[in-house]
Amino acid sequence: MDGTREIGLQNVGSNCSISQMEDYDLSRLLDKPKLNMERQRSCDERSLSELSSFLAGGGLENIEMMCSPGRRSALDTPTSSARNSFEPHPMVAEAWDALRRSLVFFRGQPVGTIAAHDHSEEILNYDQVFVRDFVPSALAFLMNGEPEIVKNFLLKTLQLQGWEKRIDRFKLGEGAMPASFKVLHDPTRKTDSLIADFGETAIGRVAPVDSGFWWIILLRAYTKSTGDLSLAETPECQKGMRLILALCLSEGFDTFPTLLCADGCSMIDRRMGIYGYPIEIQALFFMALRCALALLKHDAEGKEFVERIVKRLHALSYHMRNYFWLDFQQLNDIYRYKTEEYSHTAVNKFNVIPDSIPEWVFDFMPTRGGYFVGNVSPAMMDFRWFALGNCVAILSSLTTPEQSIAIMDLIESRWEELVGEMPLKICYPAIESHEWRIVTGCDPKNTRWSYHNGGSWPVLLWMLTAACIKTGRPQIARRAIDLTESRLLKDSWPEYYDGKQGRYIGKQAKKFQTWSIAGYLVAKMMLEDPSHLGMISLEEDKQMKPLIKRSNSWTC
Ligand code: GLC
Repeated sequence: MDGTREIGLQNVGSNCSISQMEDYDLSRLLDKPKLNMERQRSCDERSLSELSSFLAGGGLENIEMMCSPGRRSALDTPTSSARNSFEPHPMVAEAWDALRRSLVFFRGQPVGTIAAHDHSEEILNYDQVFVRDFVPSALAFLMNGEPEIVKNFLLKTLQLQGWEKRIDRFKLGEGAMPASFKVLHDPTRKTDSLIADFGETAIGRVAPVDSGFWWIILLRAYTKSTGDLSLAETPECQKGMRLILALCLSEGFDTFPTLLCADGCSMIDRRMGIYGYPIEIQALFFMALRCALALLKHDAEGKEFVERIVKRLHALSYHMRNYFWLDFQQLNDIYRYKTEEYSHTAVNKFNVIPDSIPEWVFDFMPTRGGYFVGNVSPAMMDFRWFALGNCVAILSSLTTPEQSIAIMDLIESRWEELVGEMPLKICYPAIESHEWRIVTGCDPKNTRWSYHNGGSWPVLLWMLTAACIKTGRPQIARRAIDLTESRLLKDSWPEYYDGKQGRYIGKQAKKFQTWSIAGYLVAKMMLEDPSHLGMISLEEDKQMKPLIKRSNSWTC
């Protein structure tokens, strides 16, 4: 075991945050008394505006110094609102009730929340606990000081990972995490059993690449929020992480550090033209790698992964920041690209043909602002804007600080298009007509401006809010929350809205969709106590620089 790591582990008490764990070099440990003194100051003493300007100046690092997770008490739902002199919105209590109604129990223990508590129509697979859907529920429970369910969920899904997974005669990778699971209650025998879906019963038979990443991200959120390192350090959790990492860090024929994926392997779980290197997966991949780096032990088995992660992170951030980034300048450069360039001197490395740039993007691109495009692969640039990938890129600091600001600038200047009447568009713009036929295979659920094809998903509110807080713009989050408060409860918490402005409840949207409910609660709690951001956000400079130092010291 690495010596400094050992010292780090021994010195951090159970109330210590992962951020301290992340910086386990000696100089940081010597800084500890200063940190603790800072932490005596209560977050509660600061007003929201103070906090936002504070954030704008120094970001998360400062927040981490101000607030220790162990002291976050009195966060029980409605009361927390009062602390910042906000009246608790009546929707908050309703949301908690609805969230609790969605709880799923296994042998008496809460292990997750079902996707939707909608009995009005065919339930399909919405009675299952989806890994990705549970994330906002988990964050809400953590923020409310109820970590047990999150721990149960992490352990239950870890057990499922251990199952042998097959699609027909093909065996899936050991590390794959399920998209969802279901608890079957047998009332006569009074037993509970589990079934899980790793893609073998999903539409299109695609494995959820995002599940394993969300699992690691959630393990870090749990550890950061509770200060309880013991869960992440169990041999089971360490092995679970290594298995996920083994899947996504394996060598192949790749020439890019990004992860090659099938269509439908993430939140967008139907054919939507996202095969290749979708931004959602790349951002989650980056974030999960960074979380794993903070959680992995540097023992014989962990060390090898740590080294591979460090190398991959550097290559991945370079690739993404350079080739996925699009702003006015970059668009203009691509517009003037030469094609058919060979050799190392090529400017147009992927041979993107300027004629393939869609018309809409020239109008959409503001003079100030930018975003990560949806996908980059040979001769292909998907110029669509995707919400989840861009928000997670900000939260994980895959973006440079300038790029984070630019993404927020773009959201502000394209508010009508991206937020309209209901936050937030899953992607922009919708694909229509001939393109829709070719790209979706004529999918009737993904018609233009509906569902995954330009629909508006309330769940994305929490990610937007987190990104707003991180970039020091809580007022944008406030605006978005106001919009949801005018409709979400009245409309019975729909899964998604349709139309260019997101004015209509989605054609086939489920009601009482759990992540719409939990997403709202998380957004509210984060805005009221921005220190919550720490459990789902990673800061850049502090992280990436020591990474280089650490990798050198290991190889020496
Ligand atoms: C839909 C969504 C998917 C979600 C699931 C359960 O299939 O596309 O992202 O996880 O519903 O809510």
